[in-house]
Amino acid sequence: MDNLYNQNPITDEDIQILTMFSSQAGLAIENAILYRNLEEVHQRLKETQTFLVHQEKMAALGELSSTIAHEIRNPLVSIGGFARRLYRAIPDEAPEKRYTQTIIIEVSRLEKILSDLLDYTREEPLSFAEVDLREILEESFSQVSEKLDGGAIELRKQYSERIPKIMGDQQQLIQVFSNLFNNAYEAMKGKGTLSLRVLPIAKNGSTFVRIEVEDTGSGIDPENLHNIFNPFYSTKESGLGLGLPLVYKIVASHRGQIEVDNRPGEGVTFIITFPAAQQKEK
Ligand SMILES: Nc1ncnc2c1ncn2[C@@H]1O[C@H](COP(=O)(O)OP(=O)(O)OP(=O)(O)O)[C@@H](O)[C@H]1O
Ligand SMILES: [Mg+2]
Repeated sequence: MDNLYNQNPITDEDIQILTMFSSQAGLAIENAILYRNLEEVHQRLKETQTFLVHQEKMAALGELSSTIAHEIRNPLVSIGGFARRLYRAIPDEAPEKRYTQTIIIEVSRLEKILSDLLDYTREEPLSFAEVDLREILEESFSQVSEKLDGGAIELRKQYSERIPKIMGDQQQLIQVFSNLFNNAYEAMKGKGTLSLRVLPIAKNGSTFVRIEVEDTGSGIDPENLHNIFNPFYSTKESGLGLGLPLVYKIVASHRGQIEVDNRPGEGVTFIITFPAAQQKEK
């Protein structure tokens, strides 16, 4: 065979050079691939590490909060009980009546905070069963419906005809959606549209159920988006910041996933996917 360019015969030396060149090129390509894989693995390792550190911090925080909450709860119950007794004993016209009433209101606010905190930190054994998401979503709606009915909030519900059942804990799932509906309601400040869509999707040969909760509220400041699932992060005056962390915890324990489609100034969509329960053989 001759060299195409200068018509000279190809010498052994040429072949040697070419062989060397091609094996070097091969090595370079292989190195590049290895390097890319290494970078990917490194990135994943970094993410896992950040996640684990976060989990550890959250676990420590959870334990601490739960101890404090338990310690505070008993004295609080006594304060509330005695305040109610005083309230009944004090004549209506006395100014002290108002003071005791304030104590009662504030004590119940603190009790609510404690029960939210204990809900979040409690390691409740899940009671898994085949559950119907439509039923769960309707129940969650009815828990917030008083608030929704009052203002000018339009509800749009779109359930697919066939929604597969999922394996889950009914009560905990109701808590997930009532927290999301509450947040949506609070973000819309009494006016807007809350849309719910539920549909089955197929991914990698498995079936999932996708639930989208969309509001037309304020959206989330992009700078703070990374904080929303952290306990005690709240932008609300009376918020404790435990709603979304609890949502996250419950969804994760159901092997579900959460995505957030944030449209600052326009609204947010929370998208949750759960694996469908295995279809029973008929
Ligand atoms: N639908 C939403 N639209 C806009 N901002 C939201 C929405 N959902 C959550 N957020 C933001 O995320 C923060 C955290 O939400 P989360 O439910 O955890 O706590 P919270 O609602 O402030 O208090 P809590 O739920 O304990 O009463 C909120 O304070 C708010 O800033
Ligand atoms: Mg909330």
